[in-house]
Amino acid sequence: MSKSAAKKIQAIRGMNDLLPSESPRWQFFEAKVRQLMQRYGFDEIRTPIVEQTALFARSIGEVTDIVEKEMYTFDDRNGDSLTLRPEGTASCVRAAMEHGLLHNQTQRLWYQGPMFRHERPQKGRYRQFHQVGVETFGFEGPDIDAEVILLSARLWQELGLSAHVTLEINSLGSAEARAAYRDKLVAYFEQHQDVLDEDSKRRLISNPLRILDSKNPAMADMLNNAPQLMDHLDEESRTHFEQLKAMLDASGIGYVINPRLVRGLDYYCRTVFEWTTTALGSQGTVCAGGRYDGLVEQLGGKTTPAVGFAMGIERLVLLLETLDLVPDEALGGCDVYLLPMDESVTVTALTLAETLRSELPTLRLQLHCGGGSFKSRMKKADKSAASVAILLGEDEIAEQTVTLKFLRDEREQQRVPQAELANQLKDLVSH
Ligand code: HAM
Repeated sequence: MSKSAAKKIQAIRGMNDLLPSESPRWQFFEAKVRQLMQRYGFDEIRTPIVEQTALFARSIGEVTDIVEKEMYTFDDRNGDSLTLRPEGTASCVRAAMEHGLLHNQTQRLWYQGPMFRHERPQKGRYRQFHQVGVETFGFEGPDIDAEVILLSARLWQELGLSAHVTLEINSLGSAEARAAYRDKLVAYFEQHQDVLDEDSKRRLISNPLRILDSKNPAMADMLNNAPQLMDHLDEESRTHFEQLKAMLDASGIGYVINPRLVRGLDYYCRTVFEWTTTALGSQGTVCAGGRYDGLVEQLGGKTTPAVGFAMGIERLVLLLETLDLVPDEALGGCDVYLLPMDESVTVTALTLAETLRSELPTLRLQLHCGGGSFKSRMKKADKSAASVAILLGEDEIAEQTVTLKFLRDEREQQRVPQAELANQLKDLVSH
């Protein structure tokens, strides 16, 4: 074999393996999400990770960072241009339209899965990342905006994150109001050309609202004095926003109005919001979304009001880890380690393990496999997360007992009749 052929192949930059030591935190998070979605009456939808490129270009917007610079786009063998989905909203709308889910009915959908963006990888920013998202269709009023925000707030509460995240909200108004505002903003920026950085000069033509999002300190003063969209809202959008704020107030949800929050995707109108944290460094947005009443029509459907959000699972799991918020019992491992003391009892151990698993369906039992000396078997038991080892030798079999050895405390080991074993182990499976 040539040297180059023997070179080890590595994962693609920015695309991570989820290792066994990390997966319990993901499972903990995912289980909370799944439960919550059921409690709020949301139904799951799963769509393919590849779509026609035009779907994203037409929905996210031709002149957004995502579509201009970040999509994984390729021609398939038929010459069709396909793209690995950079987000879930467009796919959700496409699927809902295609299957008639928007026909004279409302929908509350949720999804979870990998998304792909060719961004510069850093902590909290990856090229394959995972989102949980919700999308609702057919609700015009601000009650659903409040409902999806409340859903996210409850998730933070259940995860112990409430004190670590801040809600920012803004209204982008109607498409018409935004177009009028855009003209005012461009005129203002043109008066301040000398302060604009290169990126902003480029955006002045393509997407001037995004300049408001700039973190460049040299532009901060100029941006603070820029005309604000909030002062140019159409009447209906203003009422919608006022009502949403009243609903959040009544629900005890704190928020900051950020008039410069404009979001990086083109489909939004009216409400936009982000949940941010300062505990993760620069990639601090853990959840973001808003209203997109025009998107269904833009993709060829009937006008349908819609609102949703997506959260970044990597960022949230990182936050849970940083703040040590995942309880020990959720961190995986097993409760008991069943240890046949030598080869002669392997078969009995195997059947005993199965009996226990039938009797105690939530027991996490690891059966020793692979032989070895008694000493090496005990080492494996110690290394497992189990608090108890069940030892099974020829003496125990003759007596129809097992020996319980407590691995994490000083308690004396104990002989227990096999018939009483399940009862004794019950305490270990209170989870
Ligand atoms: P987005 O702001 O592009 O919105 O992404 C939502 C969230 O996904 C971000 O706040 C962040 O937590 C996570 N995220 C985005 N890019 C990355 C990345 N490269 N690495 C790790 N995490 C990332 C959307 O995607 C919209 N579809 C949200 C939405 C749904 N709006 C209405 N419905």
